Amino acid sequence: MPIGVLPMRSLRLRSSYIEISNILRGRAAALPRQCHRPLHAPRYFHARACLLQEPPKELPAFLEAYKRAVDFPPATHDFETFFAQAEPNTEVVLHGYLGQRSDLSKKLSFVRLADPTLQHSLQVVAFAKNNAFEKLKALNANSPVAVRGIVQKKKAKASESADKPAEDSWELALEEIHPLNDFPKETIMTPETVFPPEQRYLQLRSDAELREALRFRARAHNLCKKELEEQSPPFFEIETPLLFKSTPEGAREFIVPTRREGLAYALPQSPQQYKQILMASGLPRYYQFARCFRDEDLRADRQPEFTQLDMEMSFATGDDVMRTIEGVIRRLWSSLMKDPAPEGPFRKVPYQEVMAKYGSDKPDTRYGMEIIRLDQLLPVDLIGKISDLEDPIVEAFKLEGNENDPAETHKFITQFLDSPAGAPFNNNPDGGPGVFIYNGKQPLCGLQPFGFQAAEHVEELLDPDHGDLIILQARPRAPFSGGSTPIGDLRRALHASSVSTGFKPAPTGFDFLWVVDFPLFSPSSDSEPGQGGAAGISSTHHPFTAPKTPADVDLLLTDPTQAVADHYDLVVNGVELGGGSRRIHDAAVQEFIFREILKMPAERLDDFSHLLDALRSGCPPHAGLALGFDRLVAVMLGKESVRDVIAFPKTGRGGDDAMVGAPSPMTEQALETYHLKLRK
Ligand code: AMO
Repeated sequence: MPIGVLPMRSLRLRSSYIEISNILRGRAAALPRQCHRPLHAPRYFHARACLLQEPPKELPAFLEAYKRAVDFPPATHDFETFFAQAEPNTEVVLHGYLGQRSDLSKKLSFVRLADPTLQHSLQVVAFAKNNAFEKLKALNANSPVAVRGIVQKKKAKASESADKPAEDSWELALEEIHPLNDFPKETIMTPETVFPPEQRYLQLRSDAELREALRFRARAHNLCKKELEEQSPPFFEIETPLLFKSTPEGAREFIVPTRREGLAYALPQSPQQYKQILMASGLPRYYQFARCFRDEDLRADRQPEFTQLDMEMSFATGDDVMRTIEGVIRRLWSSLMKDPAPEGPFRKVPYQEVMAKYGSDKPDTRYGMEIIRLDQLLPVDLIGKISDLEDPIVEAFKLEGNENDPAETHKFITQFLDSPAGAPFNNNPDGGPGVFIYNGKQPLCGLQPFGFQAAEHVEELLDPDHGDLIILQARPRAPFSGGSTPIGDLRRALHASSVSTGFKPAPTGFDFLWVVDFPLFSPSSDSEPGQGGAAGISSTHHPFTAPKTPADVDLLLTDPTQAVADHYDLVVNGVELGGGSRRIHDAAVQEFIFREILKMPAERLDDFSHLLDALRSGCPPHAGLALGFDRLVAVMLGKESVRDVIAFPKTGRGGDDAMVGAPSPMTEQALETYHLKLRK
């Protein structure tokens, strides 16, 4: 594949600057003596006045070209209108980009003109009868132009059908061409060219799918807006500040230093606190396409800067929120997707159930492979072979294999376990997976290590067929916490590999569900900053989530780790699309959670005083949710990465914007301005 040539931009810019400064220096020397700047006149005003007095004798070529380029004729049509209304022998002006020219003879050339959206194109014919012909020949492919020409009906070739597309029915006989800029000759741009992230503009320009994804995203944005604004009473969009303050909401923040010594803003990880304060402010139905910032490890579905469709409702419960969001999803699917709109209400599955069945709190539920628990039944020596753990939990699932040839199933699983994707599972300190291939031609169908009784039980639970794969995995005997279990990760990775290697077909359709009844608190982990409390536990989502039932409120005093949250995640096809909850709207309860349950230090508690004050001011009950908008669009378009639906995404390498070169080192001067010092 051809690799795009790195930009000559800086080189070209430099030579242009040098040219300009030489001219200006020359011109300054030539200025008449009396043309001194009055002391009170601003510098730019004076320079302009002087230039007007004495126009330069000869402009350099690039300024001449620029002057011509800014004075170009308006288009008489966009291409779609042109194709709908084209009349032979009429004159039109069209804007667009030149394609590759083919010179048929010294007197005849053809070139396609792509419209500014790069979605349509038209053939332009140039004859050597005027200077437009020579001008065209001096231009590189991909250069932007304005062309004036006479519309001609294209002569049909004998092989062509009568109802050929409009793009192939018309052509333009070139009369005049205005070059508007140049495209570097040395840059090869075909749909196959791979441009580096530094040249994102060329990635976008050469990739119709990428541009279409952005158009699709804009349409999805408008539909979400419409759906929410057409509710009764309507939601309306309210922008909340981006310069926020550091509060221990859960994720690691980006800090914005200020010129005031020792003071910094923080960029919001979400507008959570502002939207709750809006509920205390008599603005009952808020939504916003909100930019959020989180300094976390990047993955295909994560960006440090991303967009949420964020909403909140007062005098409402979680059910009201879920119903509203289901309406948004149905509107999107019925307007933009070929798949049928999902029927509602979406099913609600408790966290404990998804973790037990799929080993994940965001399962892809389309391909079975449900997990079962086996530990009671298994012989001790089999457990000892798969794990060194004392009294582990052992779980299993089945992957339907090749019923005609168990050797194929064997080949697939061996390749997977030997590949880099299999390495984390082989190296699991709690023991690698136990792998069995169900084979009717072997004693106990290949399940001999289970012993007769356990093998029979496994058959009852998993109902395997000849050639199926049975996987066992041990884990410590502990309640579920976090987002997945080792067997859940293995289920997902194995299925992904079975699809990518062609061993299994890719699942189709969309299966939406709400995952509910998460634990309100989870053990703190080193990888997540949580709320920085001393209790060893953190809020599973954020500290504003309400306990689900009165019994869960009681548990706050007796065993908060057992309390269930009124939280709901919207999950589809293994992706967490969104999350929300009913909030604690009572300041005393919120403060109790901060102080007594999470044991946050007093100064961090103070960081939330604005929220506590707002709750104290007669805040009504409220609930809300945020959809990850980048993820939503990626799921709708079947994209692996959110980067494919973001115009200027950050790369996986430390969240860089490779195109602009951000983040960039702070200069000594900037450090001084912000009263900062680098630690050696
Ligand atoms: P949460 O943290 O679950 O909830 O975020 C909501 C949704 O935002 C998306 N998301 C991301 N998308 C891309 N890159 C990221 N780094 C990223 N992080 C999250 C996910 C996720 O489900 N304030 C609460 C919402 C609420 O309670 O109303 C919040 O932000 O799709």
